[in-house]
Amino acid sequence: MNDRRAFLRFLAASPLYAGLPHAASALAQTSDAPGTLVGRPQEAFDVFDLERVAHRNIPVAHWGYLMTAVDGEETLKANREAFAHYQLRTRRLVDVSKLDMGMELFGTRYASPIFLCPLGSQKAFQAEGELAVAHAAKSRNALQILSTMTSTPVEDVIKARSGPLWYQLYTTNDFDVAIKLAQRAEAAGCAAIAVTVDLPAGRNTETLSRAIAADTRQCTACHAPGGAPMSTRPMFSGLDAGRLLNSSPSLTWDFIKRLKDATKMKVLVKGLESGEDAGLALKYGCDGVMVSNHGGRATETGRGTLECLPEVVAAVKGRIPVLVDGGIRRGTDALKALALGATAVGIGRPYIWGLGAFGQPGVERTMDLLNNELRLAMAGIGARSLREITPAALIRKV
Ligand SMILES: Cc1cc2nc3c(=O)[nH]c(=O)nc-3n(C[C@H](O)[C@H](O)[C@H](O)COP(=O)(O)O)c2cc1C
Repeated sequence: MNDRRAFLRFLAASPLYAGLPHAASALAQTSDAPGTLVGRPQEAFDVFDLERVAHRNIPVAHWGYLMTAVDGEETLKANREAFAHYQLRTRRLVDVSKLDMGMELFGTRYASPIFLCPLGSQKAFQAEGELAVAHAAKSRNALQILSTMTSTPVEDVIKARSGPLWYQLYTTNDFDVAIKLAQRAEAAGCAAIAVTVDLPAGRNTETLSRAIAADTRQCTACHAPGGAPMSTRPMFSGLDAGRLLNSSPSLTWDFIKRLKDATKMKVLVKGLESGEDAGLALKYGCDGVMVSNHGGRATETGRGTLECLPEVVAAVKGRIPVLVDGGIRRGTDALKALALGATAVGIGRPYIWGLGAFGQPGVERTMDLLNNELRLAMAGIGARSLREITPAALIRKV
């Protein structure tokens, strides 16, 4: 801990600090100063209070993995900035004493349109990892999507959730393996599968590389250098994973067709950003699309996902659900995405802040904070249900 603090102080004092990308500056926050950290989940006033505690608790290299984006982190910034381009247009004297935030997706009802995105290796942030998240998702009746890179087997997570779970699929560079992963998720009871398509060729996660260089712990005491190899991850046990790549350079729409034939689960693609691709998703029989840029961790200098959402919604024309994630940190952010036509909105880093800060109660607090903020925003625009959140609630700033 002392090494870590000394490194953070060095970074904060360095003249180079001002030039660091966004997440690298996040890496350098000295937010664990006495008196600034909340001691219990209930004391957190917003998700950023949880972020500061998580930052203190999570080892430097793992924090770097959580916060990193790619290259200069322009897409990461664009995700947040996109929300600031819109203001809310209020409506008054509507009876909002009863608000229904319930969302139905593929026949299942959830308490809120805010869902938990797939994030890999959750035990790197807190010992209970995906199980703590599953217990929290159960207690708040939220949709949880489990990553292919999960540190807990899907069978155990779905038991802890004891309810609907979706699976996120990295196809790898071997599509036979991908089908086997999908079949295992289906046999475990997953209701839907989201194929991530935004990482065709690897990526340059600069902030992560800096964090690894700064972490003086013996990482190899727990895992191989650079993180656990695919072959040791729970979803790859029993598969010939020795030479698998996590990227899928030859992935095309044909695989979606093959997957549709191989499973009864609903099939979504995660990582679309254009109307053209949304049209192709419909053509190839997708049951839903997820507008996402992997939280700024895929293509650099892309648009914020909120900017991409309208063209996808226009192409889909209400025929299948459109989910979106990226940079959602407030209930008002969620409301803006819903007003632009999203069916549901995903959070990534914020629930991991809750997890890293306080485990299951921290994840629950993240959801409570965002849901309460969304409730207030809905009351502000006079919307009593998700259906009543329409583009009329937004003004685009010039
Ligand atoms: C640490 C980390 C790990 C992630 N792992 C995965 C993954 O395994 N599969 C995937 O499809 N997306 C993954 N994502 C992307 C998220 O599913 C989601 O798109 C993104 O985090 C949303 O942006 P936000 O973090 O700004 O809320 C990951 C994101 C982070 C931050």
